[in-house]
Amino acid sequence: MSEKATLGINGKTYEFPIVKGTEDELGIDISSLRNSTGGIITLDPGFKNTGSCESAITFLDGEKGILHYRGYSIEELAEKAEFLEVAYLLIFGELPNKEQLDKFHDDIKHQSVVDEDVKKILDAFPKSAHPMGVLSSLTSALTAFNPSSVDVRSEEAMYKSIVKILGKFPVLVSWTLRKKMGQPLNYGSTSLGYVENVLQMMFSQPNEEYVLNPIVVEALDKLLILHADHEQNCSTSTVRIAGSSHAGLFVSLASGISALWGPLHGGANQAVIEMLEAIQKDGGDTKKYMAKAKDKEDPFRLMGFGHRVYKNFDPRAKIIKKAADAILNDLGIEDPILDIAKGLEKEALEDSYFVDRKLYPNVDFYSGVIYRALGIPTDMFTVMFALGRLPGWIAQWREMRLNKEPIGRPRQIYIGKTLRPFIPVEER
Ligand code: SDX
Repeated sequence: MSEKATLGINGKTYEFPIVKGTEDELGIDISSLRNSTGGIITLDPGFKNTGSCESAITFLDGEKGILHYRGYSIEELAEKAEFLEVAYLLIFGELPNKEQLDKFHDDIKHQSVVDEDVKKILDAFPKSAHPMGVLSSLTSALTAFNPSSVDVRSEEAMYKSIVKILGKFPVLVSWTLRKKMGQPLNYGSTSLGYVENVLQMMFSQPNEEYVLNPIVVEALDKLLILHADHEQNCSTSTVRIAGSSHAGLFVSLASGISALWGPLHGGANQAVIEMLEAIQKDGGDTKKYMAKAKDKEDPFRLMGFGHRVYKNFDPRAKIIKKAADAILNDLGIEDPILDIAKGLEKEALEDSYFVDRKLYPNVDFYSGVIYRALGIPTDMFTVMFALGRLPGWIAQWREMRLNKEPIGRPRQIYIGKTLRPFIPVEER
């Protein structure tokens, strides 16, 4: 295999090194392109063909529907691991032994109280505020109460910021829900597991003992693992580029939360349930919505379908679909929305529009069915996605800083007006 790529422009030939990853992916290193060609750049809207970095965290193969975190398959991790150990794996590169995991959890527990003044910021929001906007604001605001979290020039300082946000973020998630529900803000307990503590904070009531349901704990733990990282997706790329200016970890994460909010990205899990509820209200007429999704004049899209990278089944969607059946069955819940979703999937996978474009269900298509069954409100679904993605964002931000990557600053091709003289307003 050639080690070089050659490019011929205006009769001149240029050579660029070819880089090969550990899973045999190939990339053309064009870092010398502009200098060697006297100013020529590449153009790739949406970065569909452009790698932003070399990363050792997550590998995915969209054609084969493969997803690995640090070399471990998503299927094995979802089946055998717990969320906190997957978080440790993503961030530090290896599965922790018991001592490492216990210390990691203890360090997080010691950081799981949020400054009381943060409640004043939360108070300023209307109950109707979308939880993602609240969460992004509170996450950014944490910097004001933890100013040392910005200066992470040492791995020790970075570790302190990491356990701080892993301890405080679940509190912000819980407070975001409880603000929306008009419930008192609370804490869980350091005697609980990480995911158990999240559930206790989210759902405990001031006047009764909260009883954890192991089915619910396991379901949420699995969902958080499945959302934990996904290489250079939109929100992760946002976290990396924000952090590349040496902005602090918390504000870089807040920028990722904002990017994730969009319905084309993490916001799709909310949009899927709203779509399925609309279809249910409309008499379950899936064919009408399939036609809308295929109509170029209609802005409607089949939410939860399609993916920039997966041109085969999203392996997470397969796991979530199976888990949805089991969890609803274990909880004794009959949800017609799940049947509508399965009907849509069946129709789409038999329809040439979707088959030709390789549009399959993605991670967001079935996840909302489980969130509903766990009693999570629809506009909190993307907040749960953010909770799952937190360790992935942290891992990617840490890798970018440890690799001392340069500040992210893409170029452009200018297509505006060329130079022209100023005309005084009287003469315009
Ligand atoms: C996530 O990148 C990641 O890894 C993201 C994520 C993660 O874990 O971080 O996996 C999480 O964001 C999953 C995706 C959630 N979004 C949705 O479910 C929203 C619906 N899907 C789409 O809008 C779309 O599929 C995207 C945004 C996911 C991908 O868009 P692309 O790669 O830019 O593809 P495209 O818009 O160019 O679509 C290609 C063709 C077009 O038709 P043609 O112009 O070729 O005729 O497929 C069509 C599109 O119109 N198409 C759809 C469709 N998705 C694509 N048509 C109908 N319904 C859809 N859902």
